[in-house]
Amino acid sequence: MSFSKFIHLTDCHVVGGDAILYGMNPRARLEQAVASINDEHGDAEFVVVSGDLTHWGDEDAYLAFSEQINRLSMPYMLMMGNHDNTEAFAHFFPDSSRDHAGFIQSVHETTFGRFLFLDTSVTGTHAGGYCQQRLDWLEEQLETSHDPVLIFMHHPPFPVGIKGMDGIMMQDSEAFHKVLAPYKEIIRHLFFGHIHRPIFGNWRDISFSCMRGLNHQVALDLNAPDTIVHGNFEPPAYGIVLVNDDQIVVHMHEFLNTSPRFTLAPPEGQNAREYALGFAPVLL
Ligand SMILES: [Fe+2]
Repeated sequence: MSFSKFIHLTDCHVVGGDAILYGMNPRARLEQAVASINDEHGDAEFVVVSGDLTHWGDEDAYLAFSEQINRLSMPYMLMMGNHDNTEAFAHFFPDSSRDHAGFIQSVHETTFGRFLFLDTSVTGTHAGGYCQQRLDWLEEQLETSHDPVLIFMHHPPFPVGIKGMDGIMMQDSEAFHKVLAPYKEIIRHLFFGHIHRPIFGNWRDISFSCMRGLNHQVALDLNAPDTIVHGNFEPPAYGIVLVNDDQIVVHMHEFLNTSPRFTLAPPEGQNAREYALGFAPVLL
């Protein structure tokens, strides 16, 4: 069975111009990610960017972000994170879909199913939230949905074990789950960002995945107190998602990895064990 393909990109944290953030250039990183997607996955139907498009939410940053994201050769959907600013964002992306209350929330019908893009941002805090207006919107969408439904949000609605990040997860998780619960049969997966790590699992019978950011990562530190979040410079990545009626497959692609490729099988006539142990690789 063939797959449909889309890309999950998250946490670009672009700043204005060519400014540096934690020693890295987030605009250049986004440029590299876009080039990689176009070159290696130009057959993807679309790209979802699940929030933290910019780091400070200022117009210079959205200008830099828009210049790079518009280089994509396929359509894209943009979401809000805790580092974004809805008003500044709207100056550069005035046609982005909103719900009736003005939140950057939308429904996208795909060849695979219905995709719901949620806005979990709350002004003035890095924590996420999902107010009654947004819950009402979500319920309306689910009431009219058929299998399959895929949900995208910036903040996870559950802790992941990194205490400093768990404190700024989406805070209204029980109310959120109450809306989702009657529709679990048709909700196939939940995608999120915010944590800047590859994380996969299952929340109350809903599978989920999170991708690394583009500029800086959150260190895998399960023992740090809840007052500290350690960053680090693990490689940036984006997700390549393959979907069909039976499966959702999420590949994490470290797109700056320059590791050479070699054949696992030995060249004709050479012993497999000798080839592997001697490791005289045959580069492609
Ligand atoms: Fe982020």
